[in-house]
Amino acid sequence: MYLSQVLLGAVALLPAVVVGQLSGKVGPLTTHAAKTAKKTCSVLDYGAKADKSTDIGPPLAAAWAACKTGGTVVVPSGDYAMNTWVTLSGGSAWALQLDGVIYRTGTAGGNMIFVGAVDDFELFSSTGKGAIQGNGYEIHAQGSRTGARILRLNKVTNFSVHDVVLVDAPAFHFSMDTCTNGEVYNMAIRGGDWGGLDGIDVWSNNIWIHDVMVTNKDECVTVKSPSKNILIENIYCNSSGGCALGSLGADTAISQVHYKNVYTWSSNQMMMIKSNGGSGYVEDVVFENFIGHGNAYSLDVDQYWSSMSAVAGDGVQLSNITFTNWKGTEADGASRGPVKIVCADGAPCTDISVTDLAMWTETGSKQTYTCRSAYGSGACLKAGSAASYAAVTSTQTAAPAGYTAASMAADLKTAFGTTVSIPIPAIPTSYYPGAAPYSAIAGA
Ligand SMILES: *[C@@H]1O[C@H](CO)[C@@H](O)[C@H](O)[C@H]1NC(C)=O
Ligand SMILES: *[C@@H]1O[C@H](CO)[C@@H](O)[C@H](O)[C@H]1NC(C)=O
Ligand SMILES: *[C@@H]1O[C@H](CO)[C@@H](O)[C@H](O)[C@H]1NC(C)=O
Repeated sequence: MYLSQVLLGAVALLPAVVVGQLSGKVGPLTTHAAKTAKKTCSVLDYGAKADKSTDIGPPLAAAWAACKTGGTVVVPSGDYAMNTWVTLSGGSAWALQLDGVIYRTGTAGGNMIFVGAVDDFELFSSTGKGAIQGNGYEIHAQGSRTGARILRLNKVTNFSVHDVVLVDAPAFHFSMDTCTNGEVYNMAIRGGDWGGLDGIDVWSNNIWIHDVMVTNKDECVTVKSPSKNILIENIYCNSSGGCALGSLGADTAISQVHYKNVYTWSSNQMMMIKSNGGSGYVEDVVFENFIGHGNAYSLDVDQYWSSMSAVAGDGVQLSNITFTNWKGTEADGASRGPVKIVCADGAPCTDISVTDLAMWTETGSKQTYTCRSAYGSGACLKAGSAASYAAVTSTQTAAPAGYTAASMAADLKTAFGTTVSIPIPAIPTSYYPGAAPYSAIAGA
């Protein structure tokens, strides 16, 4: 365990201390036990039935209405169907205890569960077995990605989401936007093997996301704009798209983001910063302790990202960004080298640092580093800061010292595809080689 992890572990018990890239305390203001003691609203008392066919939507909304000014809404263990979605907006000091499994049966778009404008909120499973099964394959098998997100939090403050499993979203799994002082942890997210089925997307302020596994083929844990003070640790991208900042467009404002202990297996990239034109900034960002195996790209900054239509502007200004301690292997280093830092000619990157990066190819015996309009130190970066420059590529023909890195025992061997039901996994007990989760898994 790293010293800083030990310190952070202690901080969880002493929330007043500010650490990492966080600006202060995260999490709910009162415990779920205190909320439960005040008032408990079980969906079974509002018409829900654990028969996997009665719509839990109206009973869940009614239970929430009864507990939303202080209390715990409980979905007891059992199988439920959700045919209509719920908008749980307003209230304060309430919790949602999801011990059952909710199966999507409705077909509307939007969000199966939308939580908005609440202070002091907690969504959790007391058993670690609570889950939402989106059954996205029923839609994906038709060649379509329309349909609902599973979970969206909007304008939620002082909150946590933990020990729940989200599976096979028709669209995205979990988005958190315009939220403040949140903690997200001990989660497994497992979706179809297709783009557009994002794991966690966050654009918010002062959020700690840790001990999360994502399986899909798009965003693992991705930060969008605007965001500030985001700490993301112990992330297992178990056959995913990979983590990213972006896509970034006009007036981007991202600062004080710290990713640490990110393990990426068989994904599109280990970390991508993606934009095409645009304006604004990304600054004061650290990507620390990354392990990759079998990924297409590894460190991938692409400010001419071809999957995105160009946005007006000279480019998002990237500055003071550190990549440190990156180890492992990439799928094919000759076609997609482990370092690609392609910055906007209209806004060259400054103060980029690549230190202690040692990666090697799994195929063939050479790999490349490519830099364009990028300044700083390490890899192919040019010193100083000045004008734009065309892409320069260096080729390595020998493995760097110290590139070997551990694998996770549970790496996904075969993706889940998009045409058959995806099983609900157990919440993992480790998310990064050698790192224990910060909090015990519920029910373990
Ligand atoms: C969130 O909690 C902090 C204390 O940590 C408090 O100062 C703040 O007012 C709370 N936010 C809201 C919107 O009530
Ligand atoms: C660069 O970013 C790091 C990490 O956020 C921060 O600690 C440091 O103060 C920044 N340096 C400058 C010169 O702003
Ligand atoms: C990764 O996915 C595989 C396939 O489902 C699963 O067996 C494994 O448990 C996952 N990893 C973890 C840590 O859960």
